[in-house]
Amino acid sequence: MIYVLGIESSCDETAAAIVTADRRILSNIVYSQVTEHKLFGGIVPEIAARAHLEKIDVVVKKALDDANLKIAEVSAVAGTCGPGLIGGLIVGATFAKAISMARCIPFIAVNHIEAHAISIRLTEDIDFPYLLLLASGGHCQLCIVHAIDRFEVIGKTIDDSIGESFDKVAKLLGLGYPGGSAIEKTSAAGNNERFSLPRPLCRKGLRDFSFAGLKTAVRIAEGKCITEQDKVDLCACFQKAVIDILVYKVEQALKICENKNLTGVVMAGGVAANKAIRTALQNICNDYGLNFLAPPINLCTDNGAMIAWLGVEKFLANQYGDLKFSPRPRWPMSENLEQSYPLN
Ligand code: KG4
Ligand code: ZN
Repeated sequence: MIYVLGIESSCDETAAAIVTADRRILSNIVYSQVTEHKLFGGIVPEIAARAHLEKIDVVVKKALDDANLKIAEVSAVAGTCGPGLIGGLIVGATFAKAISMARCIPFIAVNHIEAHAISIRLTEDIDFPYLLLLASGGHCQLCIVHAIDRFEVIGKTIDDSIGESFDKVAKLLGLGYPGGSAIEKTSAAGNNERFSLPRPLCRKGLRDFSFAGLKTAVRIAEGKCITEQDKVDLCACFQKAVIDILVYKVEQALKICENKNLTGVVMAGGVAANKAIRTALQNICNDYGLNFLAPPINLCTDNGAMIAWLGVEKFLANQYGDLKFSPRPRWPMSENLEQSYPLN
């Protein structure tokens, strides 16, 4: 049996997991740094790096213990090498490389965004090509996933990512950090028709996303809020605007992908944990007779299992042996093969 250890440390979670080639998650340990950063209302890179360093050995050991596995039984180690905060990346990648050297097993350098993009194949039977909406704290793009290393970009954000806009709006409305889940919870009690907010770039032929203007519109409306319920309603209106934008963009993408033989539509990244967004995308996919898939909620936000799984896929495809790979704070998805989808 092939056992891959996956290590994730690109942002504010120190995570490790053991995943098998036959798609069993033997362990999945996530240490969240929320308490370390909460005080500052967002992630402080230096604090994040130190917290990774303090926790990484404990988290990896627990992943092995929970899987009931000895380090000698691990077949390969996959580590996130980018994109992300450089301090954390160095900690995780160096730890993974050290295990690889000490145990004489392959080290697999994993791109964090690609890991989100492929993670659906760990829990669902889905072949390529599928349409992917990737929405995390640092990224937002729509692409066709043709293979584990081939992504055809349809559109991406020209300013904020979706997760970033959730986090900024949450801060603005006093909902704290992390913002995404707080906005989802608060929205459930709000009137999502109360405030009129823009749906930027939602016009035919425009493939990219923009969220900065929406955030500014929320800020302006927030100045007029008097009661707590006003803010709850504004929160619900913001989430509704995001949902409308995503539904519009996915629908546009489905129209231009009509002859692409898509196997389904997938949403991945932390924002995919949002149930209201999942339901809206499920409905639009039903209209198009396509499967809508998203990872289980705990595998949407950052975790080691998705890193281990891309490690498995790369291991099986003989794409490994990256000991000399240096962590990269900026590392576009499959950069050599990325191609912009032609407009119209
Ligand atoms: O993928 P992820 O864990 O980290 C990055 O790779 O960036 O995504 C984190 C992002 C944060 O911006 C967080 O606010 C957002 O995902 N998020 C959510 C929800 N849960 C997490 N956004 C909307 N609704 C949620 N339930
Ligand atoms: Zn992520």
